[in-house]
Amino acid sequence: MIGEELLSDVAMSNTVSDLKIFDAIMSSVMDPYDENTNPNGVFNLGVSVNKLQEKMLLEKLNSINEINKQDLDYCDPSGANLLKEQIARLINQRFHAHKPVSKEDMIVVNGCSSGIDMITSSVCNPGDGVLLATPYYSAYMGDVNLRAKADLYGVPVPIEEVQRPSQVQYYENVYSDMIDKKIKPKMLVICNPNNPLGKCYSKEAIEALLVFANERKLFVLMDEIYGLSVYRNNESSENGDEVYPFKSILSWENLSDFIDPSLIIVSHGMSKDFCLNGFRVGWIISPWNKRLMNALKSISPFSYQATLINSISTKFLQDEEFINELLDAVPRNLLGAYEKTTKYLKDHNIEYIPAQAGHFLWVNFKQQMLTWKNKNLKDGEQKVSSINEITFDDEIDMWIDTIKNGRAYYAPGAIFQSSEPGWIRIIFSQPWDALVVGLDRVINYLPSS
Ligand SMILES: Cc1ncc(COP(=O)(O)O)c(C=O)c1O
Repeated sequence: MIGEELLSDVAMSNTVSDLKIFDAIMSSVMDPYDENTNPNGVFNLGVSVNKLQEKMLLEKLNSINEINKQDLDYCDPSGANLLKEQIARLINQRFHAHKPVSKEDMIVVNGCSSGIDMITSSVCNPGDGVLLATPYYSAYMGDVNLRAKADLYGVPVPIEEVQRPSQVQYYENVYSDMIDKKIKPKMLVICNPNNPLGKCYSKEAIEALLVFANERKLFVLMDEIYGLSVYRNNESSENGDEVYPFKSILSWENLSDFIDPSLIIVSHGMSKDFCLNGFRVGWIISPWNKRLMNALKSISPFSYQATLINSISTKFLQDEEFINELLDAVPRNLLGAYEKTTKYLKDHNIEYIPAQAGHFLWVNFKQQMLTWKNKNLKDGEQKVSSINEITFDDEIDMWIDTIKNGRAYYAPGAIFQSSEPGWIRIIFSQPWDALVVGLDRVINYLPSS
């Protein structure tokens, strides 16, 4: 076999080194639970999909799934014109764009992951730094690094401050460290609403982050992929938690009071708010930076979606009545699922961070982890009495054990760069009859005592 040293440095640095984590994820993907055909399969509480509107989506999509002769051909790699027009209409309406967005202000990409990879390679040189509050959506690490070779620098923002302007102090610390280490900070990512915490930022918090970025000439990627999946508002605050309305950055009248808008890039798409992860349709919008949009367009031929998906997505978004129905159902159904799931957690004395958007809950599993550890001591290990003695390695081992033997897959806090072991993220956007099977599996396999 030809020596692997012949591969590029980029390819070599991308070969998976932590097979333990990779194998665990693959085992759940390859053997998925199905009530009828695979009841012993692994129940997925880990991947962020919204299955609550499946029926209405399938009916609609089956009614418009027709192949025409133009679908046999190439289309514009940055997205077909008709599709961009529909996206622009939708964004202007739903994100209340202050200055109406047009098809020239966007490119369509094959999912936001791909978009973030393209954005990073357009604004960062290899080795440049991207700042992002922890815990963060785990795939960002690969999105900025696998091809663009930029590095993520997690900013440990305490959960109580994640919606507040005071968080800027933590960004300042990480930024200074990077400068001391001669790393060039180039971009800041704000995931609003936040994955994995399910919270919207206050406008004041975003203003403070924009001022911070502007003073240092950092690009700001506003990942607004859960923007239309906000299910709790100011009136429904739970035990006094802070609940803010989602305000897209595109709606800000006074954006230039805080930042040069040409530093702002917005990403959104069909995976979350439209429940169509498998379509691989996302979009990147920047009405303020034509040069950046041109740079993105120039690399779009490497990663565009099939013409057929452009056509189906266009027909899908064109049906305003259906889209209104869907976008009413999404938050309503998420709220129902959130209420059932949080009641279940309370009934089992499990703490969680109240959420208001997205498909997930950040859940405290410290007690379960302590119990699991003491039942699974390795040779020579002593019993542990405090969560402070538990490590991220323990957390990963418990996770792998739960997939293999408990037959349920959740996401461990370690992969989100959580600042302490003991937190997990569970996805609740599934019909209750199914969801409860997965929750029971985790709770029964990982008792608290
Ligand atoms: C915060 C966030 N950004 C981006 C993505 C990527 O989405 P896409 O399916 O459009 O690649 C996800 C998917 O889970 C996400 O949670």
